[in-house]
Amino acid sequence: MILAIYGTGGAGKETYSIVNDIQKKDHRWNEVVFIDDTKPIGMFKEYACYPFDEFQKKYSVKDVEIHVALGELATKEKLIDKVTASGYTICSIIHPDAVVGKNVRIARGAQIKMGAVIGDHTVIGKGSWIQAYATIGSYVLIGDCVQVSAKASIGDSVHLDHHTFIGMHAVVAPQVQICPYAIVAMGAIVNQDLAEECVCMGNPGRVMSKNKEHKVF
Ligand SMILES: CC(C)(COP(=O)(O)OP(=O)(O)OC[C@H]1O[C@@H](n2cnc3c(N)ncnc32)[C@H](O)[C@@H]1OP(=O)(O)O)[C@@H](O)C(=O)NCCC(=O)NCCS
Repeated sequence: MILAIYGTGGAGKETYSIVNDIQKKDHRWNEVVFIDDTKPIGMFKEYACYPFDEFQKKYSVKDVEIHVALGELATKEKLIDKVTASGYTICSIIHPDAVVGKNVRIARGAQIKMGAVIGDHTVIGKGSWIQAYATIGSYVLIGDCVQVSAKASIGDSVHLDHHTFIGMHAVVAPQVQICPYAIVAMGAIVNQDLAEECVCMGNPGRVMSKNKEHKVF
């Protein structure tokens, strides 16, 4: 099987690093390539890199799985949908040093980085990324295209709805519900539910603004 990493920006570079760790340990893929629509055919790091239309001419849907590596959540979702509509399979990537509990369900396109810990019975949605050393409790429900950033802690039975973003080192207390497009700032401590599009900062977390444009970066 061939792996194509779609994106060569910051998220693509992070994915390159986790893929190299997987290859060293398990040699999961026979070949790795990159896709980037903003670059001509060439190389990225030591791997070949193609715009998507050129990639489609060269690689058949049955030989390849694609991982979309983009930071902006809504853009990532659009790309996942485009790739799926083209007939390719979207794959998840889990670092060998992540700890995944029992009965965890992980949807396509998810990424779980080094040192992340996922509690039992947790569900992780399509294209959601759990960054390095983040801790996710048990029975947590994570929707599609969510990011839990590095070293954040998510309590048991929390619900992170689709397109929510949890900043680095943030803490979400058990059973809290974070509604779609909400942002929890880095370092915030959230112990109450957050309504749709709210941007919450500080300790205790307070809503300071709205994410009307549905953009994080
Ligand atoms: C929440 C966030 C998205 C807000 O970004 P923003 O809208 O550009 O906010 P600004 O930087 O313009 O700051 C607006 C105000 O909020 C304050 N603020 C920003 N982040 C804050 C934080 N984490 N905690 C407390 N206050 C914060 C700023 O001091 C500023 O206050 P002021 O108006 O009194 O000067 C951003 O601060 C954040 O936390 N991003 C997540 C970063 C991250 O975790 N990345 C993970 C790796 S990809």
